[in-house]
Amino acid sequence: MNFTVKSEHPASVKTGCVILGVFERRKLSEPASRFDKTTRGLLGKLLADGEMDGKCGDTLLVHYPRGAKCERVLLVGCGKPGEFDNSAYRKAVAAAARAVNTSGATDAVTCLAELDVKGSDTYYNIRAQVELARGTLYRPDELKSKKDKARRPLRRLAINVDKAAQEQARRAVTDGVAIAAGVELARSLGDLPGNLCTPSHLANTARELGKASKQLKVSVMEAAAMKKLGMGALLSVARGSDEPAKLISLEYSGGNRGDKPVVLVGKGVTFDSGGISIKPAAAMDEMKYDMCGAASVLGTLQACVDMELPLNVVGVIPATENLPGGRASKPGDIVTSLSGQTVEVLNTDAEGRLILCDALTWCEKFNPAVVIDIATLTGACVIALGAHAAGLLSNDDKLAGDLLAAGKAAGDRAWHLPLWDDYQPQLDSNFADMANIGGREAGTITAACFLSRFTKKYHWAHLDIAGVAWKGGKEKGATGRPVSLLCQYLLDRCGQR
Ligand code: BES
Ligand code: MN
Ligand code: ZN
Repeated sequence: MNFTVKSEHPASVKTGCVILGVFERRKLSEPASRFDKTTRGLLGKLLADGEMDGKCGDTLLVHYPRGAKCERVLLVGCGKPGEFDNSAYRKAVAAAARAVNTSGATDAVTCLAELDVKGSDTYYNIRAQVELARGTLYRPDELKSKKDKARRPLRRLAINVDKAAQEQARRAVTDGVAIAAGVELARSLGDLPGNLCTPSHLANTARELGKASKQLKVSVMEAAAMKKLGMGALLSVARGSDEPAKLISLEYSGGNRGDKPVVLVGKGVTFDSGGISIKPAAAMDEMKYDMCGAASVLGTLQACVDMELPLNVVGVIPATENLPGGRASKPGDIVTSLSGQTVEVLNTDAEGRLILCDALTWCEKFNPAVVIDIATLTGACVIALGAHAAGLLSNDDKLAGDLLAAGKAAGDRAWHLPLWDDYQPQLDSNFADMANIGGREAGTITAACFLSRFTKKYHWAHLDIAGVAWKGGKEKGATGRPVSLLCQYLLDRCGQR
């Protein structure tokens, strides 16, 4: 989809559809009442007739409004004016995007971004508009022989703003498109099945990104090199599989040479059967999504390139399958991690932490400003927070606060859980330095406690995205989370937008 910026009178713009906000109860937004002056009170009359109250997310499509130049006008409920914040705005914009996409219009002009959104500005309004509009167009139909694209999908969306905001608006469109494309990349990789999305496929995707940009250097470490370095934990997970493990790194240098990078580490288990501690059959297909942390790292790095962020960012992806082959790790096996610490593998299904711990030790070499790992790590996190927030655990309260704020601003929230030492003894082992599981209680926290033993040398945060990375059931599909959160965090770090 193509995005442009306009500053026009909503009634005199020639387009398939003009999108206008309506507040509760039955109050036209400012652009809507400007429109209505030209259409002799048509909209006001429709509201008075009870066609729409303005409830947030409601929509009403009106054809051939007399007096205006457009073919259609889409009224979008924005809720109560006093409650029109970031999340209400996003809800209204998402509803508008869905409605306009099935309206038959192939181009539209939206006047939603010029509305006054509490705690937000024009730049942000436009960016969210772009991200949400593109997001509704995504269809996981890459592997269907007949595509199920909308009948006449929206091709062009013009965003109407005040003339004075045009400059800011163009940057917002660029950033929005970049982030939306990053989210899309993460979603399509997530949805790709395990037979196609292998560790090698992730590596090739990274290489493609590297080819497209001079600022991005990609390298892939093979199992032999990992063995030489002593990544016994990572390699123990790959033992049961015929697909070779890969350790992928992407170095984006948009900042000054020598500036410490932000390092993003993404769990890339391309299929998690549980290994010898095999999972039950029900919904096991969803374990193809166990590489969504990796996908979010690739999506975010692609967005960094597209936004030309003046920052150094490194992506690190340990990638492997977790399968129960004849050489697979067995419960009770003890492995030596790259850090030298030994781990008793009491459950081969707690494999994420085993691949992450070696990646986290390895990334010390980048001399990171901060390290953030992103992982579909624990079923316990789904129980604790559901599909609404990622779990956030950190050894640094400033970093945790910054990530929480970024998630809130991006509509991609996280929630802070404690990483108190009190939980550490749950990982005690009689035979090794630690066990890889911590019992039934506080599973998300003990998983993070495990990782914390490998991240003492830098500021570190862990995002457990098990509940947010994909949706199950009828709407099954990857969400692309937390690409928006991560991009917002990086934008905030630049202090520019
Ligand atoms: N990839 C899973 C976590 C997961 C499970 C995410 C279900 C989303 C939905 C992870 O590798 C895993 O299996 N974790 C175990 C850990 C346990 C053995 C300590 C879990 O959560 O059950
Ligand atoms: Mn597992
Ligand atoms: Zn897993």
